[in-house]
Parts: sequence; C-alpha cells; structure tokens
Amino acid sequence: MNFELTAMDADGAAHQPCDVLLLLLASDVKPAPGVLSTLVEQAGGDLESKAGSLLDMYRPNGLSCKRLVLVQSASGNAHDMREAVHKAVTLIATAKPHNIILYFEKTPSSQALRVALTTLAEASYRYTTTKGEKTEGRSLENVKVAMPDTTALNKAFDVAVAAVHGIEFAKEWANRPANHATPTLLAQAAQSLEKFPKIKCRVLDAKAVTKLNMGAFLAVAQGSAQPLQFIVLRYNVHGKGRPPVVLVGKGITFDSGGICIKPSPDMDEMKFDMSGAASVLGVFHALAMLQPDISVVGLIPACENLPSGHAIKPGDVVTSMNGLTIEILNTDAEGRLVLCDALVYAQRFKPHAVIDIATLTGACVIALGKVRSGLFSNNTELSAALQAAGESSQDLCWPMPLDEDYAEGLKSNFADLANVAGRPGGVITAAKFLQRFADKFSWAHLDIAGTAWKSGDAKGATGRPVGLLLDYLLSQDTKA
Ligand code: BES
Ligand code: MN
Ligand code: ZN
Repeated sequence: MNFELTAMDADGAAHQPCDVLLLLLASDVKPAPGVLSTLVEQAGGDLESKAGSLLDMYRPNGLSCKRLVLVQSASGNAHDMREAVHKAVTLIATAKPHNIILYFEKTPSSQALRVALTTLAEASYRYTTTKGEKTEGRSLENVKVAMPDTTALNKAFDVAVAAVHGIEFAKEWANRPANHATPTLLAQAAQSLEKFPKIKCRVLDAKAVTKLNMGAFLAVAQGSAQPLQFIVLRYNVHGKGRPPVVLVGKGITFDSGGICIKPSPDMDEMKFDMSGAASVLGVFHALAMLQPDISVVGLIPACENLPSGHAIKPGDVVTSMNGLTIEILNTDAEGRLVLCDALVYAQRFKPHAVIDIATLTGACVIALGKVRSGLFSNNTELSAALQAAGESSQDLCWPMPLDEDYAEGLKSNFADLANVAGRPGGVITAAKFLQRFADKFSWAHLDIAGTAWKSGDAKGATGRPVGLLLDYLLSQDTKA
C-alpha cells in the first residue's frame, strides 16, 4: 500500500479520479465553497454529528470519483478520528477499492493524522501467508492523503507511514503459525532487514549461547527440537557513536507451558508469544525507512517452550549469565528466563537505556485489559518519555509499581531466586524478577500480554507496541 501526501483544496479533490473519495468532515469547519460543500449542505442533518457517521453516494454528479463517502470526524481528536476512519474503511471494504483519497477538510493534528493512517491500515489489513492461493489480500494500493495545506505535517506523515510499515511487519511475523515462524525463520526475517541501510544482524546459535553462559535461556530451549537463536540487530551502531537504546523482545515462538503445560483451549494463541520480538523487528523496519540519527540495538532470545524428555522440570536450578542461580518452580514462567540472560547481555553495549518488550503475564491482562500495556521502569525520566510516546502514537501504556516488598515471594530455599512468586500481583512480581538483571542501566519493561493481539472473531496480532517504541526512539533524535 502506497501513501502520498498532497495539498489540494476541496474542489481539487472533487476532480481527482479515484475509486472512493473519503471526505472527513469536522464539526467546526464548513467546506470551502464548491461542488463538495454544496453536497455537504444538501446532506444537511442526514449526516449525524456523531464521530463515525457516514453518508454514502455513488457516482455523484460533477465529481470524478466513483464513490463519495462523507465521514463525520466530529472533534477531530484521536478518538473521533479512529472511529471515523475505521467505520469508513470498513464500509468500503466490500467494494475492494484500489485507489482512494482521504481528504481532510480541516488540517488534522499530527496525532490525528497518525491515528487516521494507522487505523486505515488496520481496517484494510488482510493476513494471507498461510491461506490458500485463492485468498485475496488487501485491495487498497494507493492512498492519497489530501488537505488544503500540508506544510506542518510532512514529518508527521513520514513517521505515520513508517509506523504503518513497521506495524505490518510485526503483525505478519506475530500472526504466522509457530511452524511457519520458528526461531530459525525469525532469525532469517531479522537477517532480511540487512537489505536496508545502517542495519546489521548477527545470529548466535546454541554453541555461542552456551559459551556466554546463558543458562536460563538454554534451559527453556532444551525441551524443543527446534534450535534456539539469539538475534542481535544493530541500527546505526558504531564504535564512537552515542550510547544506544537496547530493545529486548521476548521471542518464544510457541509457549505450551512446558512440563507445567497450559490447558488446551486457546493454547493456539501462544504462537503470539513472540510478539515482543516481532515488535523489535517492526521498529527496525520503521527506522530503516526514516533513517533517524540515533543508535539502536535489538536483542531477541528466540526458542520454543515445549514439554519433552529433555525439558526442564519444576524444581530444576539453572545459572544465568550474571551468575545468579534460579529455581524454576513453574516452567510456564519461561519468558523471564529467556529475557534475564538477554538483559545481562545488553550491558556490553553500555546502553543509554534498555527496554524489554514481552507478552509476559496473564496477570497483566487481568490488571490492564487490552487497552494499555503495563510499563515498569527504574528511571523516572525513561518512564515519562515512554508514557509520552504512548500518547503521541496512541499506543498506550500505564505505569506500574516496583516496590521492593513485591520481590518477597521470589525467595528460594535452593537458589538465589525463584522464577515465580504467588498469584497476587503476578504482573509486578514478574517485573521484579527481571529487575534483578537490570541493575546496571536505565531499564523499562513493557508487558504487552493484553495489547499484542486480539482474541475471538478478530483474532490476530495488533503490531503493538511498535508505534510507542518508534515515537520514543525518535524523541531521542536531538538533531531532528
Ligand atoms: N506467555 C505467557 C503469558 C500470557 C498468558 C500472555 C496469557 C498472554 C495471555 C507466559 O509465559 C506465562 O505463561 N506466564 C504465566 C506466569 C505464571 C506461571 C507465573 C501466566 O501468566 O500464567
Ligand atoms: Mn509461559
Ligand atoms: Zn510465555
């Protein structure tokens, strides 16, 4: 799907040939006099004032589009814009349009433009990779984004387009079934990003990981026949550059729970347990498109969590890369085990900040639902910057506590710490576990268990939190 930003007035839009012209109306702005304003006037009260109200017209007289849809975006804020674009794109989907114009009668804010483009992409997205040959993908090919004046929005437009591509790259890999997204295939996807400027990728195998003493990561991987992969991506990282931001993505390509096996219903959804990893891949894709002047490292410990004769057992004690021993009381708390070694590995980059992204706990879904990701951090400035990025991208998160008292339950009689505490505050005790391995740098942890995918009829990856991470990283580009 190609996006193009063009300045034109309403009359210009009316005379552009296209399959559909989506005319976004705001409650406080009347269209400039012309054929469109006449139509809007004639529509009168038939177009309701509620965001997302639509009025659909075929081959309207004097217009060059095949179809005109009047779309009410009401206040034009992020919420109303999402509602408006979602309803409009869903309405026209059945007609399978190829070329559309999204015309803003009133110049949107950067945030509203971002929401409009990501919502348009989301509403027109079709997964096809493992469907039969007859399955049609997205019909949309060209989207002309038009408004009277574009001068203030060029940068926001480029970021929005890059965010869409990053989100869709993340969705593609998260949506693929586990047998089509093994650790090896994930590593190949990461390596494919080397085709872009400034991106380098190195993949460590089990032998290299053993040499690094990543005993916790190795322990999770040992139950599976699929070889583990430790993926190291770099964007613009070189010797004397500034300290990089390190992103660590949980890459469990399938989480059965291991010996502490999960119940069968909904277990298929555990193919999404590499959504953190997918978001790191998506962010690198977006960085490649925008080429900002920052340095970013991406680390992905990728493996499966399966039961077998080789699998770890409850009570097993393993040693992580920093020498701490861990009693594995529950083999289903595997995410923190692969992440802790990656966090220790992150130290070698002398990072400005380390952010891990993980579908870590069912408890996070209970605490925050599917609206906001859980945010934990040992640094208030980093936490504030991530919250701000969540707002600007409308990829929301919410700060959670890290009081030391929450670590009480992680004590073990047989190791330095246990990998689980009791059920209360499970989202926090998981973060407390990770924090033990993140004491040498500014660190944040995003629990995306609730936000990374949707269940039910709309089952599928969301591509979150690519938007949030991208806005945070761009905010670190002081020259921009
Ligand atoms: N990948 C799961 C977390 C998860 C569960 C994400 C449900 C989304 C929906 C993680 O590896 C896990 O199994 N966590 C356990 C931890 C528990 C054993 C302390 C959980 O949340 O039940
Ligand atoms: Mn698990
Ligand atoms: Zn998991």
